Formats: sequence, C-alpha cells, structure tokens
Amino acid sequence: MKKVTILFLMAFVVLASIQSCSKDKDSDKATTEFVADNSTFTGYMNWSLDKTFHGPDPLLGATAHANNDSTVVRDVHFKNGQNPVNSRYPVGTLVVKHSYNQDGTVNEFTAMAKRGNNFNPAAGDWEFFMLTPSGNIATDTNGSPMRGANLMDGMCASCHTMASSKDFIFSK
Ligand code: HEC
Repeated sequence: MKKVTILFLMAFVVLASIQSCSKDKDSDKATTEFVADNSTFTGYMNWSLDKTFHGPDPLLGATAHANNDSTVVRDVHFKNGQNPVNSRYPVGTLVVKHSYNQDGTVNEFTAMAKRGNNFNPAAGDWEFFMLTPSGNIATDTNGSPMRGANLMDGMCASCHTMASSKDFIFSK
C-alpha cells in the first residue's frame, strides 16, 4: 500500500513538473514581443549616454536628424547601455536620440524599440518613434501616435537600412 502511495506521489510530481515546463514555454512566447507604451521612454535623460555626435554627418543626407545645422548636437541614449548580443539587440532594447542646438531652434527626439515577433522583418523588427521632450510618444496633427515600422512613410527604416549589418543601429 505504501509503495503504491509513493508511486502515485512520484507520478504526480512528474506530471506537475511537465505542466510547469509547458507553462514556462508559453510565457516565453508571450515575452518575445515588446510593445512600448506612452511611459516607456520617459526618464530617457537618465539613461546611459552612449554617443554624442556634433555637426554634419554625410550618412544623414541633407536634413535628417537636423543634420543641416552645424551647431546641432546629437545625443544617443541606450536604456541600461544595452549592447548587441551575437550582433543582434535583444527584444526590448530601447534607444532615444536627442538632437538639439544651443539657441533652441532644434529640439528633436527620435527613438527605436526592438519589438521582435516579426513586427518589422525588413528592418530588424525595430519600431520607430517620434517623442515629445518629456519622452512621451508624440502625436501627429490627427492625434495619432507617431510610431511604427513605416514611420514618416518608411523614411526612418529606409535610411537605417544602411546600418543593417549592425542591426540597423549606426552609433555602436
Ligand atoms: C537619412 C538617414 C536617416 C534617416 C531618414 C533617419 N535616421 Fe536615425 N540615424 C541616422 C544616423 C546616420 C544615425 C547615427 C547618429 C548620427 O549621426 O546622428 C541615426 C541615429 C538614430 C538613432 C540612435 C541609434 C542609432 O542608430 O545610432 C535613433 C533612435 C534614430 N536614428 C531614430 C530615427 C527615427 C525614428 C527616424 C525617422 C523619424 C530616423 N532615425 C530617420 C540616419 C537616419
């Protein structure tokens, strides 16, 4: 009788662990997509400052990121200084770029979030954003959030494709 009880208990333990394993797999699936919300980028000014660029950069063309103004400084902040892992940034990686000049005529905030889950296979599954100075997701004149794989009619993605060998990130 005792043996039967032990066997029964063992079977129970085995079944329970199989079940918890499959639960883990399900939750892994759920975390393979990172969807930014309106508070995701707030506080970016306290993130690690990974790169600062000054003045024109031929890669920027004529006007991107306020590049046509030689007084502009461009600060690139990665949340927690995130680096690529095997040449790819992990899902959930966040980057904010602040372009500004001293007289305040340029004050532009762009961002990228590694969304994953096949969100944007043509551009490394990154989502592109325009932010307000406080780090909220900006809205366009129709009140729609300025975000997506094709933000600015695909301009962000098409230029960042030049950095595709570095997972669409120029500055690291
Ligand atoms: C004409 C090319 C071009 C366009 C268009 C462009 N970018 Fe960039 N972006 C760059 C370059 C080059 C850098 C590297 C930093 C620098 O030189 O200022 C950069 C840097 C960044 C960074 C910091 C991470 C990195 O790649 O180094 C973010 C975030 C970013 N861009 C977001 C955007 C968003 C959002 C848009 C669209 C609204 C956009 N970019 C449009 C060329 C471009």
